[in-house]
Amino acid sequence: KAPASLLAPADLFGARRKASKGFDLSDERVVEAIEAARDCVIPDAAPLTVSPATGTALTVTNPATGAAVAQVIEADAATVARALDDARVWDAPAAERAAVLRRAADLYEENFGPIFATLAAEAGKSWGDAVGELREACDFLRYYAAEGETSGAAPRGIIAAISPWNFPLAIFTGQISAALMAGNAVLAKPAEATPLIAAMAVRLLHAAGVPASALQLLPGPGSVVGTAITSDPRVKGVVFTGSTATAQRIAAVMADTLEPGTPLIAETGGLNAMIVDSTALPEQAVRDIVASAFRSAGQRCSALRCLYVQEDIAPHLLAMVKGAMDELKLGDPWHFVTDVGPVIDARAQAGILDYVAAREGAVLHRTAAPAEGTFVAPVLLKVSGIADLEREVFGPVLHVATFRAGEIGKVIEAVNARGYGLTFGLHSRIDARVQEVAEAIHVGNTYVNRNQIGAVVGSQPFGGEGLSGTGPKAGGPLYLARFFAPEPVAAPN
Ligand code: NAD
Ligand code: ALA
Repeated sequence: KAPASLLAPADLFGARRKASKGFDLSDERVVEAIEAARDCVIPDAAPLTVSPATGTALTVTNPATGAAVAQVIEADAATVARALDDARVWDAPAAERAAVLRRAADLYEENFGPIFATLAAEAGKSWGDAVGELREACDFLRYYAAEGETSGAAPRGIIAAISPWNFPLAIFTGQISAALMAGNAVLAKPAEATPLIAAMAVRLLHAAGVPASALQLLPGPGSVVGTAITSDPRVKGVVFTGSTATAQRIAAVMADTLEPGTPLIAETGGLNAMIVDSTALPEQAVRDIVASAFRSAGQRCSALRCLYVQEDIAPHLLAMVKGAMDELKLGDPWHFVTDVGPVIDARAQAGILDYVAAREGAVLHRTAAPAEGTFVAPVLLKVSGIADLEREVFGPVLHVATFRAGEIGKVIEAVNARGYGLTFGLHSRIDARVQEVAEAIHVGNTYVNRNQIGAVVGSQPFGGEGLSGTGPKAGGPLYLARFFAPEPVAAPN
């Protein structure tokens, strides 16, 4: 039977899982345990402020079914004010903070059942994505613990951490674990759609030993809670992941209200391209195109938005892409065979469908979607190039353009001119071309002869440039330093 308590997880497959083992998906018992996790009880989620919270009740819904999952009390102005008053930097030695973060990672892993249940119910995550999300969250905890455990640097003070719904555990945890490892006090505002998994993470971090005054959760609308915590002069840094437009709004508010020099670490959206030239291996390219564009229903900042195919191979390659799209299974995210789950809510679904409807004449291919729930059928849209993309469409919509031999330089120029710089993919077997393109393209993460999603903490630090982010890259060696107070400048002799 499903575990009733978050901190006393069920022994789901014989022996309590040991930390750092990951999931052995070749073991049928592990697969069965993950399948069963959806039935775990989802704990309730009052805002975890030090003082009791007040505010209006928000209903969290399941995107696949539209069913109400839980009610969450949003933080109101009084709750935010109390949280700011109560916030205290975490003054334990760095080695102790690191040990607490490692314990939190172990607790996350042990509680995989309720975590997966919540990710499926609240965010529509497929279980493949849920496994990846938990893995990444634990990697962040352990990576920043290792990076910071010998540091003697001082914290900045109060850090506002604002996160998106599409990685509601991994990015939420990545932001706050870095800020906490540097000894700061964190006010964490999760996305409106995903407060439950955030509350669960905060509960586990507190249980691991993070003081309640060093980590407080403030669910609520960005325009209210987000604005309040990015405009109070006691806040000494903001870490944000979300859309470019919101980052620009936050930067403007910070410039008017916070001390000059207060850092904004922003990871934002992308118009990500991939080039497939005529030397690419078609089977490999097709697999990577489909994964990059349609996994997670295209709801990754890293997802492929504009595919450039060399004209000579385009008919053959696109026929294969269409065939592969027809094989994608849309449906219940928690079914083992599901490839594409729902998009996050009805508003997102309507926005994507309207975008495609306005370009009906450009549709090259579209699959079918279930009638119930907020599903969007993967679609291919013909464009003349990335300049035709007005904005990031956050769903399973792939734009396709062709180029002639000798035009790769023009394609790179067009991609760079668009101003975003998050991920880029290249399929080619010409080494010199790979070298040249990788040097010329202005993005944070370039992937060669593979898909362009799923950066791994520590090995593939992740983050963009231009309109896609400020840096430093998350999960990389420069990230943590930004959360420490700057070294005092020595007075001139
Ligand atoms: P969003 O910008 O709408 O919201 C992100 C967060 O900001 C939410 O918590 C929201 O409540 C808050 N917010 C909204 N308005 C605010 C304001 N005025 N002040 C303070 N906070 C405010 O983004 P989203 O829809 O949640 O997420 C999808 C976007 O995130 C996409 O553009 C995607 O590309 C981007 N993203 C980027 C990365 C990355 O690492 N670069 C990763 C994941 C998602
Ligand atoms: N880090 C996530 C990815 O690479 C966003 O897909």
